[in-house]
Amino acid sequence: MKIKNIQIHGKTFLAPLAGITNLPFRLLVKECGCAVVSSEMVSAKGFFYNSEKTMRLISSKEEEQPLSIQIFGADPELMADFARAIQEMKAAHIIDINFGCSVKKVVKQGAGVALMKQPELAGALLSSIRKAIDLPLTIKIRSGWDASGQDAFRIAQIAQDAGVDAVILHPRTAGQGFKGKADWNLITEMKQRLSIPVIGNGDITCVEDAHKMLSVTGCDAVMVGRAALSNPFIFSQIDAFLETGSYPVPSRRQIFGAMAQLTRSYIDFFGEEPACRMLRGRLSWFVKGIPGCSSFRKRLSAIESGDHALSLIREFETLTG
Ligand SMILES: Cc1cc2nc3c(=O)[nH]c(=O)nc-3n(C[C@H](O)[C@H](O)[C@H](O)COP(=O)(O)O)c2cc1C
Repeated sequence: MKIKNIQIHGKTFLAPLAGITNLPFRLLVKECGCAVVSSEMVSAKGFFYNSEKTMRLISSKEEEQPLSIQIFGADPELMADFARAIQEMKAAHIIDINFGCSVKKVVKQGAGVALMKQPELAGALLSSIRKAIDLPLTIKIRSGWDASGQDAFRIAQIAQDAGVDAVILHPRTAGQGFKGKADWNLITEMKQRLSIPVIGNGDITCVEDAHKMLSVTGCDAVMVGRAALSNPFIFSQIDAFLETGSYPVPSRRQIFGAMAQLTRSYIDFFGEEPACRMLRGRLSWFVKGIPGCSSFRKRLSAIESGDHALSLIREFETLTG
């Protein structure tokens, strides 16, 4: 699959996850075989008012290539300026526009999923960004404000006409948040309606789900969010399954190795104290299902330093090995 001029090597995308898909996590996921990684959503207004925080959110490394940076806002000029700035900084290889966030604070400013009921503004916004950048441009949308999918089809058509290069569809309504089920039938219909690539997202909990979404809907690639938190290896597993019909289960050594790697890169990126605060929660995702994980999680909640975290990981590895 190609998105504009970028050849995508594989069929997996990491979903943007606020507070989670930071640079250290993206690097880990990339090593685990993900074809396209994504930043969390970044505010266009924030870029102009709180550039220090924004610069951290959009900082990237060459190894992440191709990296998609997702931006949100409702002002066509501001969004175009932000997209242009990202292109000039060479921070991303793809720019994605958020049409899916249903958090009140975002919807109130007319951004995120609010754009799905403002087709004229959506068109103006996308045309303005398209004119400002040469980078591949994608949008990530929901079904819309009701379950019919009509909002999604309308916005996707507007996007295709405005020169957007791919559409990512998470087929839940604005009101659903993350509850209920994603309606994959809408991905099937979206694929039939558009000539640009369609990436399907929502409720891929395991390798078999990814295979099912690709074969049932005909989408060009799948985007995985929550399932990658406890299993970053899911991306290479999906590739293996698509190629051979089976996939390897990560060894304990690989799992603990990934935890140690994430610990080190969190500390490098965020500094020791903030990293430790975040790692107390983050590291516990990886040990789901491993015997003794609940007492390990308790010990993780008291991490005081990078060395402390690494020694707890080593200790638990020895215990379970
Ligand atoms: C904690 C969390 C943060 C999220 N942040 C974003 C975001 O920044 N931008 C976005 O487009 N979607 C965001 N989403 C939605 C996901 O990208 C994805 O569409 C959704 O989780 C469904 O995919 P999944 O079933 O594979 O998790 C977020 C979801 C969660 C659970």
